[in-house]
Amino acid sequence: MQMKVEWGDHVKWIAQVVDDPGRHAYIIEVEDEPAGHMRVDQMEEGIGVITVYLLEPWTGRGLGVQSIVMGANKVLDTTDIHRIYAFVRKDNLAGEKGFTRAGFAEGEIHPDCPENHFCLSIQKN
Ligand SMILES: CC(C)(COP(=O)(O)OP(=O)(O)OC[C@H]1O[C@@H](n2cnc3c(N)ncnc32)[C@H](O)[C@@H]1OP(=O)(O)O)[C@@H](O)C(=O)NCCC(=O)NCCS
Repeated sequence: MQMKVEWGDHVKWIAQVVDDPGRHAYIIEVEDEPAGHMRVDQMEEGIGVITVYLLEPWTGRGLGVQSIVMGANKVLDTTDIHRIYAFVRKDNLAGEKGFTRAGFAEGEIHPDCPENHFCLSIQKN
């Protein structure tokens, strides 16, 4: 089920994300055009969870894998986060393949991983 988000609430949410030092948010751009959003939210010390979302016209072109690799490496290299989880719904084949292709793998299960989701992760070398 999708929830309609009012513009004012969205603006407030973005301001909170940008101000929060535990959230590392990026806009995915292709030739200066916004194509999606990626962020890593710190869950606890050293541990983050990644979310990536491409606008529909930009899906299925390899951009997801490229964005996940770039974003995850940037966070692992420049912050205290040393392990990033991806909680991916089991019916989301593009998500599962995209994160796996980007180097995420099943292993340690995080207690916050929802039911019916793959619990994939990557860690700093
Ligand atoms: C998940 C997502 C980021 C993947 O990015 P993408 O650019 O569409 O995927 P890519 O083109 O990089 O392809 C990655 C893999 O998924 C496969 N794939 C892409 N779209 C697919 C689809 N609709 N169904 C099945 N497989 C698909 C590709 O073939 C590729 O697999 P391969 O490496 O074995 O060839 C993107 O589809 C998206 O934003 N989806 C909506 C939000 C979401 O589900 N986010 C993930 C949870 S946080």
